[in-house]
Amino acid sequence: MIEQTFQRIFGSLPEVVVRAPGRVNLIGEHTDYNDGFVLPAAIDRAITFAGRRRADRRVCVHSLDFNASADFDLDDIQKDSEATWSNYLRGVSKFLEADGHRLIGADVVFGGDVPREAGLSSSAAVEVAATVFWSKLLALQLDPLYVIKLSRRAENEFVGVPCGIMDQFISALGRRDHALFLDCRDLTYRHVPLRADVKIVVFNSGVKRALAQSEYEVRLKQCRAAVASIALLTGRPVKSLRDVEISDLEAARGAMDNLLWRRAHHVVSENQRTLEAVKVLQAAGLERFGELMNESHESLRSDYEVSCVELDTLVNLARRQEGILGARMTGAGFGGCTVNLVRAEAAEHFAQAVARGYEEAGTLKAGIYVCQASDGALVNA
Ligand code: GLA
Repeated sequence: MIEQTFQRIFGSLPEVVVRAPGRVNLIGEHTDYNDGFVLPAAIDRAITFAGRRRADRRVCVHSLDFNASADFDLDDIQKDSEATWSNYLRGVSKFLEADGHRLIGADVVFGGDVPREAGLSSSAAVEVAATVFWSKLLALQLDPLYVIKLSRRAENEFVGVPCGIMDQFISALGRRDHALFLDCRDLTYRHVPLRADVKIVVFNSGVKRALAQSEYEVRLKQCRAAVASIALLTGRPVKSLRDVEISDLEAARGAMDNLLWRRAHHVVSENQRTLEAVKVLQAAGLERFGELMNESHESLRSDYEVSCVELDTLVNLARRQEGILGARMTGAGFGGCTVNLVRAEAAEHFAQAVARGYEEAGTLKAGIYVCQASDGALVNA
């Protein structure tokens, strides 16, 4: 228990304990930074923060997962190139202060069971937990959207990793047994119930996402270039790929750089798939939902080119098993995880069979997570 660890390190029990979950995205991949649609669920793996106030302006923080400690001064918050695990808390603290929230020193312990660098958004979970931690400790009464945006800002501007808003959003506002349908343009959202007779099974390929950040930046730029090109060719006021129709793409096909066209084609078609997926999920059309997941993977693999051999292997193995509805890579890609929608009664056998096949096919072992869609950090907080 984190309370006992906190007591062992700091000599008394914490005043506040908060948790924020990781996430798995069911469909709507690489659409969030294009003002598009996403359908993630928060998972039953989370990061927990425990802490208490200090009388000064120092933050003394211990990471359970790294078994390391660091401390910083609230009046001079700098990025730490060694204790990089502490930068999420530093970033969140810095921007809260910059926005006029007067923080006070704190002793903090944090850790959890969201695997790192697996595409399940452990960093968003740390950021959201850190923001909610300050909000609880100091009774800050922060608006949920502010919590989400500030957490993302810490990742983008302090840690220096570009990302959309999906991960922080779902970590904050996920709901038990539901997925969350989010419009990343106006940030309106709706919870969509998941049925009890299907399970979300996630396989961790074990491939660390070495290329993820640089290639993510490349994709961001390609999407912007595609927007400029489509606007020019169609003469339409296109602000982002969200504004592009399949018919615009067809019209621009011959005149546009083929690589940019394929990138745009993924995003535009993925938005359509996500809209349809939400509709069929509400109507309990699970077979179609699974097909849309499969199509999403194809599009990510061939048009967007963010999959890798190991993810493709996991997806292909999954599709041969009984009880599978749909399988695709999830998250940024280049390693990390696949997400599978599986009939509940087949889930256990399915998971073992895919993991066995993966081990036989290569050198890595797959991590298996049968996920329960869970509440976000701000639900019942
Ligand atoms: C990462 C980012 C998200 C999103 C996904 C791809 O997880 O953090 O914002 O862009 O990749 O869908």
